[in-house]
Amino acid sequence: MAEKPWAGRFTEKTDERVESFTSSIAFDRRLAHYDIEGSIAHCRMLASQSIISEDEASKIVKGLDRIAGDIERGNFKLDDALEDIHMNIEDRLTKKIGKVAQKLHTARSRNDQVASDVRMYLRDEVGNLVQKLTGLRLALVQFADMHIDAIMPGYTHLQRAQPVLFSHHLMAYYEMFARDTARLKDALKRINVMPLGSAALAGTTYPINRAYTARLLNFPKISANSLDSVSSRDFVIEFLAAASICMVHLSRLSEELILWSSREFGFVEIPDAFATGSSIMPQKKNPDVAELVRGKAGRVFGNLVALLTVMKGLPLSYNRDMQEDKEPLFDTVDTLKACLDVYQELIPRLKVNRAAMENAVSKGFLNATDMADYLVTRGMAFREAHHCTGEVIRYAMGQNKELHELSLKDISRFSKLFSEDLFELLTPQQMVNRRLSAGGTATKNVTRAIQKAENAISREMVKSKGNEKGKRASR
Ligand code: ARG
Repeated sequence: MAEKPWAGRFTEKTDERVESFTSSIAFDRRLAHYDIEGSIAHCRMLASQSIISEDEASKIVKGLDRIAGDIERGNFKLDDALEDIHMNIEDRLTKKIGKVAQKLHTARSRNDQVASDVRMYLRDEVGNLVQKLTGLRLALVQFADMHIDAIMPGYTHLQRAQPVLFSHHLMAYYEMFARDTARLKDALKRINVMPLGSAALAGTTYPINRAYTARLLNFPKISANSLDSVSSRDFVIEFLAAASICMVHLSRLSEELILWSSREFGFVEIPDAFATGSSIMPQKKNPDVAELVRGKAGRVFGNLVALLTVMKGLPLSYNRDMQEDKEPLFDTVDTLKACLDVYQELIPRLKVNRAAMENAVSKGFLNATDMADYLVTRGMAFREAHHCTGEVIRYAMGQNKELHELSLKDISRFSKLFSEDLFELLTPQQMVNRRLSAGGTATKNVTRAIQKAENAISREMVKSKGNEKGKRASR
C-alpha cells in the first residue's frame, strides 16, 4: 500500500474502516480526465514561473499524458487506500516517473484542485445538457408544426376551459425548456471561474501566475478570494437548482402524457417502443417512461436539498463535508441527461388522436366565454353578459344540450342581443383563431411562435458549432 502524503506527522496507520469511510474514489474517478488536464496546466505554469525547471515539467507532463492514455485503455486500477482520484493519479505518476512527480503539488492543495476539477467537469456537462435541451426543444417545435390544426380543450383546475391549439400547448413546454436552457447558460458564467492557485485556503508564497493557468485551461476568469475559492459550492447548488426546475417541467409534461394517454382522455397514444405491459393484465399498456421521469424529479430535488443542507452550517474555508457534493451532482447530471434523451425520442413518435381532442372540445361548454364576449360586443357589460350566459348554460344543461346545439329561439329568451351570427363564433376554429392577442392561441400566433423558435434553435446550433471549433483550435 502506498504511504499517505501526510504520514510524516502520524504514528499510527489509518484504520481500515476510516479508509473506506473517507474514500471518494468510487465516484470521483469520473473527474480523472479533468484532474490530469488541471495538473498539466498547473505544471506548465510552475515551469514558466521557474518554480520548477522545464526539464522537470516536461517529465511530469509526459507522465500525466501516459496516465491519461492508461485510463482510456482501462489500464488504471484505482486504489481505495489512496482515498481519492487526486492522490491516485499522483501516486501513479510517482510510480511512472519517480521522485520528480512530487514537485507537481507545489503551490497547490487538493482543496483548490478538487474545486477546479468539479468546475471543469460541470462546464462540460452543462454544455452537453444544453445540447440535449436544444434537441428536445426542436422535437417539440417540429411536432407542434406537424399538428398545427389539432384543437384540444385547454384546462384550468383540470376542468375544460377554452379550446386551444394542441401546438400552443406543446409550445408552452418549448418556452419552459428555452428558459431552462438560458438558466443553464447563465449558471455557466459562475461555474466557469478558476479557483486553482488558491492553494489550501490562503493563497501561496510561490510567485505563481494564475492568469496563465486559466488561459491554458480555458477559464475566462480566476476567482477573487482564496477562502471563497476553496469553500464555495454555490455554483453546484445553482446548477442543481436549474436542473430541478427543468425536472419540474419534464415532470409536468410527463403528468400530461400520462393523463392524455389514459382511456379517460385518449388524446395521445404512447408508441409501443416507449411503453410497457402488465405481467397480469393482458390489455394494459403503461406509460412507465413518463412515470419514471415524473418520479426522477424527486431524486433531483433531493440532490439539491442534500447539498444545500451540507453547506448551510460550514465555517470557512474547506471542510471535508464538501466531498458530499459529488454524488448529488453526478446523479443529477446523469438523471437529467437520461430524461432529456428519452423525451427527445418519444415526443416525435406520439400518436395524436385528433378526433378524441375535438370530441372533448365539443362537450363541456368551452364556448361559454365566447358567448358572453358576443353579448359584450353587442353593448352589454361583461358582468351582466357573464350572468346571462350562465342562465343559458343552466337551461342547456336541463335540455342535455351544448350551447351550440341550442336554437336562436331558445337563447333569445335570455337576451334580445343574440342573433344568428353568434353560432359561427362558437365553433372551435373561430374560438381559437379569434384569440389573436399577443401570446394567444390563434393559429397565426402559434405559427409565428414556431417560426421564431425554429430560428432561435438554428442560431444557437450555429453558435455552438462555432464554439466547438474555437475550443478545438485553442487546444
Ligand atoms: N476528496 C476530497 C473532496 O472531494 C478532495 C479534497 C480533500 N481535501 C482535504 N483537505 N482533505 O472534497
